[in-house]
Amino acid sequence: MLQPGRTLLSSPRIQSRVAEMASEIRGHYGAELPVLLGLMNGALFFLSDLMRNLPPEAEFQCSVVGSYEGTASSGRLQGLDTIGENLRGRRILIVDDILDTGLTLSKVDERLLELGAEEVKICVLLSKRVPRRMEVTADWVGFEIENEFVVGYGLDHNGRYRSFEDIRVLDEVADK
Ligand code: IMP
Ligand code: MG
Repeated sequence: MLQPGRTLLSSPRIQSRVAEMASEIRGHYGAELPVLLGLMNGALFFLSDLMRNLPPEAEFQCSVVGSYEGTASSGRLQGLDTIGENLRGRRILIVDDILDTGLTLSKVDERLLELGAEEVKICVLLSKRVPRRMEVTADWVGFEIENEFVVGYGLDHNGRYRSFEDIRVLDEVADK
């Protein structure tokens, strides 16, 4: 049975890194803030904490995309049609919880450019040290992590454990 185990990243560590990332993002864009595009559901808490560390003029939107079944990527991405056509001509900053195989971010990036976005950059809280299936370079990365399945702070396992304030490793424990 899989259960949340040891804490990989504590809540204070996450919060201070998110504030630092927001300040780097502010420094990069200056007054020309991008529209933040949060990929739901995983990016929910990261997006909201980032937004609270950005100037109040910053805009955001969300789309619901996903490819995961259990602890593995299915290789298919659903939900690209939830990306708004109103993003044409805008500078976009995609905000996601984690970069793993690269499938999600490469498809969303491609779709935004197809829709006529002026510029697309990528910000992820976590990046797994694994070979990518699709080549993606994130412009801002909170933490590099090993190839472990993690939950909390928005990340789930079959919909569960998203609400932990810290990020924990999912461990195999013996059934009772
Ligand atoms: P990719 O498309 O393989 O890069 O995977 C990106 C998506 O897979 C992320 O947005 C997450 O929703 C999900 N994902 C990948 N690794 C993990 C993990 O360790 N825990 C929870 N979700 C994950
Ligand atoms: Mg996701």
